[in-house]
Amino acid sequence: MRKTLLGAISPEEFLRDYWQKKPLLIRQAWTDFPELIDYARLAQLASRDDVESRLIEYKNQRWSMENGPFSPSRLKRLGETDWTILVQNMNHLVPHISDLLYRFNFLPYTRLDDLMISYAPPGGTVGPHYDSYDVFLLQVGGQKRWQISSDDASGFIEDAPIRVLKDFNPEQEWVLEHGDMLYLPPKYAHYGVALTPGMTYSIGFRAPKTQEIATKFLEYLQDELCLEGMYADPDATVTDAPAKIDAQFVSRISQMLQKVTWDEKNVTEFIGRYFSEPKAHVFFDQTDELLDFDDFAAAVTRHGVILDLKSQMLYTDECIYMNGEVLECEPESQAALQTLANTRQLAAGDYDESLLETLFTYYEYGYLTPSA
Ligand code: SIN
Ligand code: CO
Repeated sequence: MRKTLLGAISPEEFLRDYWQKKPLLIRQAWTDFPELIDYARLAQLASRDDVESRLIEYKNQRWSMENGPFSPSRLKRLGETDWTILVQNMNHLVPHISDLLYRFNFLPYTRLDDLMISYAPPGGTVGPHYDSYDVFLLQVGGQKRWQISSDDASGFIEDAPIRVLKDFNPEQEWVLEHGDMLYLPPKYAHYGVALTPGMTYSIGFRAPKTQEIATKFLEYLQDELCLEGMYADPDATVTDAPAKIDAQFVSRISQMLQKVTWDEKNVTEFIGRYFSEPKAHVFFDQTDELLDFDDFAAAVTRHGVILDLKSQMLYTDECIYMNGEVLECEPESQAALQTLANTRQLAAGDYDESLLETLFTYYEYGYLTPSA
């Protein structure tokens, strides 16, 4: 396994002692950035309409929140202090950020969500709050003071545009410097204030609500269901209250509904599709100048392939799930496709025709490209 960001702690120890249990501060967790994203680059990304961004300010004792995209003139009007700009899904935009997110691959991809980057000058903060999800907060450049509290009982300020706790009683406090990282379990209150200009990389996790899973599963099941039979009542008798829904009718309809069943195979396929589905704002670019199959196959043989930064690929023993679509796997392609899903790339090599054809289809959709 590649180097993790957990310092001296092994992933096994982390999961056993901290994950979803208690906070952990790791000094100098990660400083090995191939390049540093500066504010100008982040601001440029926040000006794009295909990128989710937010601006949070605390001015005159009031919180304000604006959604992007932000024009350069809007950002020029910002003062020297007391604001934060946040850009979501940075792993879709910058290869080394995607690489950083996938260093958390000691947890399954079904749990990983995204890497968000925030930039704040001194005083910049999004206020004391908690999140419903686990988060790792990695400080990059500058210094931020973080205060945390296990007490999440106060409730949020009403009519504020963001979730800010009414009452926050810090139990622990640290100043995070470049490369330091703080892990927080779900619902752990935290309050970060920038002391000097810098960024926070938030590695976020996905934990769907029961209601969400049930609703989405029922949508999936609706497309899968194919039930025989039709309502019948050969024993019907004369009614003197024709508008009444009688018990016999309810019982017959109940019996019909009992035919709605599902098994583990349905649940597995639902998981594969739903958890690999791209987020709502994600679109894949199809380049105009696609290689033809022979040139693509030659490039894969020579250089291998790499998943697009936005692709989500999962698998089971039988199937591959790529960006919400299911593929029953040919046995001869299985090992290579599973490697591609796990490592997000395939090395150069001689691959058989059926694998190359599958890869070519994915390439045409923009889901992967030959490695450079
Ligand atoms: C920040 O980047 O300052 C806020 C991140 C968070 O609290 O989740
Ligand atoms: Co938070």
